[in-house]
Amino acid sequence: MDRETTVVLDNKALNNDHRMLVVEAPRLSNMARPGQFAELSTNGATLLRKPISISMADREKGTLAFVFRMIGKGTEYLGTLEPSSKLDIIGPLGNGFDTDCGSALLVGGGVGTPPLLYLAKQLKTEGKKVSVVLGARDKGDLLLLDEFEKLGIEPVCATDNGSAGVKGTVVTALEEKAPLDGGTKLFACGPWPMLKALSAFSESKGLELEVLLEAYMGCGMGVCVGCVVPTTEGMKRVCKEGPAFNAKEILWSKIR
Ligand SMILES: Cc1cc2nc3c(=O)[nH]c(=O)nc-3n(C[C@H](O)[C@H](O)[C@H](O)COP(=O)(O)OP(=O)(O)OC[C@H]3O[C@@H](n4cnc5c(N)ncnc54)[C@H](O)[C@@H]3O)c2cc1C
Ligand code: FES
Repeated sequence: MDRETTVVLDNKALNNDHRMLVVEAPRLSNMARPGQFAELSTNGATLLRKPISISMADREKGTLAFVFRMIGKGTEYLGTLEPSSKLDIIGPLGNGFDTDCGSALLVGGGVGTPPLLYLAKQLKTEGKKVSVVLGARDKGDLLLLDEFEKLGIEPVCATDNGSAGVKGTVVTALEEKAPLDGGTKLFACGPWPMLKALSAFSESKGLELEVLLEAYMGCGMGVCVGCVVPTTEGMKRVCKEGPAFNAKEILWSKIR
């Protein structure tokens, strides 16, 4: 973990309420692993920094990318940052994904999609076969399709209203369209109900599943114990022992 005063290179709208922020961060980009997150300063717009997943790290260019949904004061502030403005970042935080697998199937729901982009790039670099399934309410909410295509991956999509891809959830898409065999490991990030459904699905198919969890966070560094989740080994901190967990560890019945 380190702290760096980064410089904003780009901050572009992806749709009505999602943006991609790219910063020059030579030190942090060198340390970041897929699945880790960072605490972004809001320069006083909010009491606490904002935890955002690392969507991409480019070690050669020394850059980090974050994709966020503008949902409140903190993310709205991030949305206003102009190129060449400064942004104080602490990171990378958390454990990150375990990429040890044969082939990988990445499942993203809504704003859970961004961290899977960096994971896809890493898995490809390691020579693994990678497939992606993305879900959203509507076609316009599907994120980063073009970025996955740049990596040579054409995502299978699912939308609640059927405006793109399969009509239904990511589980519907997995059952109908996704290439699954015994050696495939699933990686997922998205809303809790989606992760819960995927956990049941992977268990019924005998597949390994690693989930990236989000929780309300205070410090983001393991001190306040504000982000704990129930696991088979007691309460664990999402910001420190996670955010990536083996789905079998999580006591899904005790969540929400
Ligand atoms: C490890 C981690 C990684 C994250 N990665 C991303 C990311 O890549 N992109 C992204 O857009 N968001 C991400 N988030 C969520 C993001 O941190 C929150 O949306 C953000 O803090 C909202 O701040 P705000 O000040 O804009 O809104 P606030 O005013 O704080 O909140 C606005 C609304 O969002 C809800 N909310 C706030 N935080 C969360 C949360 N953690 N989970 C669910 N609902 C929440 C509040 O209840 C409220 O309804 C991540 C969160 C964690 C813990
Ligand atoms: S947010 Fe403080 S311990 Fe996780």
